[in-house]
Amino acid sequence: MSLIASGLDTAAPEYGARRAAMLAKLDDLAAEHAKAVAGGGPKYADRHRERGKLLARERVELLLDPDSPFLELSPLAAWGSDFPVGASVVTGIGVVEGVECVVVANDPTVRGGASNPWTLRKTLRAADIALKNRLPLINLVESGGADLPTQKEIFIPGGQVFRDLTRLSAAGVPTIALVFGTSTAGGAYVPGMSDHVVMVRDRAKVFLGGPPLVKVATGEESDDESLGGALLHARDSGLADHLAADERDALRLGRRIVRRLNWRKLGRAPGPVTAPVYDEDELLGVVPEDLRVPFDPREVIARIVDGSDFDEFKPLYGDSLVTGWAALHGYPIGILANARGVLFGAESQKAAQFIQLADQTRTPLLFLQNTTGYMVGREYERSGIVKHGSMMINAVANSTVPHITIVLGASYGAGNYGMCGRAFDPRFLFAWPSAKSAVMGPAQLAGVLSIVGRAAAESRGQVYDEEGDAAMRAMVESQVEAESLAFFLSGRLYDDGVIDPRDTRTVVGLCLSAINNAAEPAPGGFGVFRM
Ligand code: COA
Repeated sequence: MSLIASGLDTAAPEYGARRAAMLAKLDDLAAEHAKAVAGGGPKYADRHRERGKLLARERVELLLDPDSPFLELSPLAAWGSDFPVGASVVTGIGVVEGVECVVVANDPTVRGGASNPWTLRKTLRAADIALKNRLPLINLVESGGADLPTQKEIFIPGGQVFRDLTRLSAAGVPTIALVFGTSTAGGAYVPGMSDHVVMVRDRAKVFLGGPPLVKVATGEESDDESLGGALLHARDSGLADHLAADERDALRLGRRIVRRLNWRKLGRAPGPVTAPVYDEDELLGVVPEDLRVPFDPREVIARIVDGSDFDEFKPLYGDSLVTGWAALHGYPIGILANARGVLFGAESQKAAQFIQLADQTRTPLLFLQNTTGYMVGREYERSGIVKHGSMMINAVANSTVPHITIVLGASYGAGNYGMCGRAFDPRFLFAWPSAKSAVMGPAQLAGVLSIVGRAAAESRGQVYDEEGDAAMRAMVESQVEAESLAFFLSGRLYDDGVIDPRDTRTVVGLCLSAINNAAEPAPGGFGVFRM
């Protein structure tokens, strides 16, 4: 047993300051989450209830096993856009009849539950998680279809929702649609493409075109019920497999369907679980407000892994990256964590070797990001930093074990890539509220623009506008700073959510359990290269 020796001084003033700053960020996060939970606001929620309907989150809660966890995904989707936070849909992983499922629930209180560009991205991400991790997908449908004013951005890519449903089914991942209300036009293909369909009597409306469209197209007079009501689909068209008496009955039928999937997880079962020796609560005081101040990621590892037991790999070599083996909720993992921000050649080679070792032993990898990127400068270019960084990025990109990434602090430049950023397809990626990510730091970016602008002016024989330069730098700096923040990035679906540091162990544990629904991925091509 290699117990991490913590050096975190919880009595020190820095600890108190870090903790206070993190708690303030968590208050902001709670306020943003509350917006997503409020959906379309009291007016639309009250109207929805007066119609005798359950809210999206109430439907999810009644579908899931009592007292089981729900790992909500992308709750901040659409943050910073013209659309309401949450993007009119609730997605997440929950347990139904003991089976981990991806649940996608339209929120009909937000603009009729219509899909805007962020709804689409969130829905597609949920389907991607279902496919990669082999999790049954349950759609709780009630939506006005495409958000018509933004149709140009969603109509063509939106076909992927239906493509994904049928590809999931082809891959042996069951898909279930419980239809609570409107599911028209393209939306009709959600039940159309699902393996199992339940419709609520007198409520579900599933048709390609509603009565007004039919009247215009063919002159035929119709009404919702005769055109696409639940009874019609259960008795005449056969699109519905089950007719539910009401919403609760539909959820009960949904649970019954899952029970009969005879589901078996194909991955690894967890070993015995031990709690970390150190208190998870102390994670609040680890990350400094100023990300230029380094912190020891072992303090994080000590508070998330089983027994705070961590076998470090190459501790003396490339020591600004910590690598090593641990278990989390009984699942073995390899961890890569930035210690001092910058990645040098040695760190890159150590990472590449470590990733190959994890691939060899089929051990999933956890990346804890706090990096300003790969080291620049004449000496480093000369000694091959591009080659070494490329080795690490190659290893991350081609390693076939599941990856999970948590952005603790900085995530700048190609460091984001080498440490398994979004483009490298980690199975799950979450950020702490302290996370910041961009191509480079705001001041550096503004400085580069200024140097480039000055050189361009000189080459044209012009005098450089120094006043304009100062204004440009200030503007660019504040814009890039705002675009680097966790809420903004989460709003754009560059992560699966911003989490409370104290929940890290639970979230990663839920992810590891979900991942093991799928069979262990096949190993890659080469043996381990000693770097
Ligand atoms: N695109 C953009 N906004 C939409 C929308 C859509 N597809 N569907 C509904 N909305 C908006 C409404 O304009 C309304 O906005 P407002 O409150 O600011 O006036 C809000 O969402 C609520 O709609 P409302 O009609 O009052 O709600 P409802 O619960 O009575 O009915 C629907 C919901 C979905 C049945 C109804 O709005 C509808 O039929 N929408 C059009 C559906 C359609 O034909 N879609 C085709 C897309 S492929």
